[in-house]
Amino acid sequence: MSIKALKGFKDILPDEVGLWQFIEQTARDIFHRYGFEEIKVPILEKTELFVRTIGESTDIVEKEMYTFADRNGSSVTMRPEGTAPVIRSYIENGLYVRGSVQRLYTIGPMFRHERPQKGRLRQFHQMSVETLGSNSARIDTEVMAMAWQVLQEIGLQASMEINSLGCPACRPSFKEALLEFLQLRLESLCEDCRRRSSSNPLRVLDCKSEHCQAEYATAPAIIDHLCTACSDHFAEVRQTLDLLDVPYAVNAKMVRGLDYYTRTTFELITTELGAQGAIGAGGRYDGLVQQLGGPEVPGIGFAMGMERLVMLLGQKQKVAAGAAPDLFLVTLGEAASEKGFVLLQMLRSKGLRVMMDHEGRSLKNQMKQADKCNAGFALILGDNELAKREVVLKDMYSGEQKLVDLPSAFADWAAAIREKIRQQ
Ligand code: HAM
Repeated sequence: MSIKALKGFKDILPDEVGLWQFIEQTARDIFHRYGFEEIKVPILEKTELFVRTIGESTDIVEKEMYTFADRNGSSVTMRPEGTAPVIRSYIENGLYVRGSVQRLYTIGPMFRHERPQKGRLRQFHQMSVETLGSNSARIDTEVMAMAWQVLQEIGLQASMEINSLGCPACRPSFKEALLEFLQLRLESLCEDCRRRSSSNPLRVLDCKSEHCQAEYATAPAIIDHLCTACSDHFAEVRQTLDLLDVPYAVNAKMVRGLDYYTRTTFELITTELGAQGAIGAGGRYDGLVQQLGGPEVPGIGFAMGMERLVMLLGQKQKVAAGAAPDLFLVTLGEAASEKGFVLLQMLRSKGLRVMMDHEGRSLKNQMKQADKCNAGFALILGDNELAKREVVLKDMYSGEQKLVDLPSAFADWAAAIREKIRQQ
């Protein structure tokens, strides 16, 4: 019996890779324009890192993490998201001494044991961005404007919803109001919500059950309980978003599924992917660095789900994988085949994408291969041509064929062929 991939784990096949590369390159280019630098962090971390940051009573920590004991019996977890590992690295490597504001991004696989469905996988990929060291509302706006620009430049439509989750100063009065609200309907809530209403009441608002969500339609909103500092910050965020013409709508019900958020939160939403409409999300986490033992450094960031972007874009356009060769070397006869094999390497060293057949196929068959792989040119080299130091260069798009004279030194052939192709 053949071995299949795990449920929720997906191969990214060569035909799709062009889209992945296009999205990633576009995003990297934009991140660099905004002054972000790449950081690469491990996939496996101590379990404690995620429990302490994402929060014990979140769905991710309670139900979705790939956690196991390693060979020494230590509890390790395959990262379910990128923020906690980046903050861990920021503290461990003292990155704050590089400058007061650090702008970091990381791109890679994340793991959550969720029920797989369209747009929801167990191994998925995020482009994850973090800004550390600024309290300014302008940073919130820059980060959101950058996320918005990524969508614009890859050609996707979405809407942006924003909210403020306040800070430790305004949470207690909100929690009190929420608890009062929950006490009155405890009986009709799901088991998770009943449990969480005492341990972490804010978490109930993120429940996936439709019944609970209907109950919460009239729940108090944190935005009505913001302290003056948080309220001013949120007003400035909205004002600066307006200044940059970044469209958004305030969604007072948004709470996000991770515990570390404070103040500004946002989600990029599409209606084109059914239930899995969030293509990106993020927010501020002003207490997180300190909570993990680092200095008092505020932060804000977001992550975009690559699979969701690829699915959306794939519905709209095809992007060539970019693997078509510039040249297909067609050889006739043994001497030409051997010379051609060496020429193949020389042409590649000169920067050309070149392929040839190694199966001794007929001329007709080799031309078919050149056509099938979308080569720009076919270079036909026969034993006779070799003796006369000439080759036939065929433009595979126009069909035009030319006889090309080659220099007397074989070492100069590759440069001469490259020049000829450039001239065409
Ligand atoms: P998140 O909302 O958990 O936030 O995930 C961000 C994005 O990752 C989602 O909007 C979605 O596009 C994608 N995503 C999440 N789970 C899956 C899945 N199972 N399958 C496919 N795509 C998925 C975070 O992870 C935060 N770390 C974002 C952040 C960075 N906040 C501040 N900095």
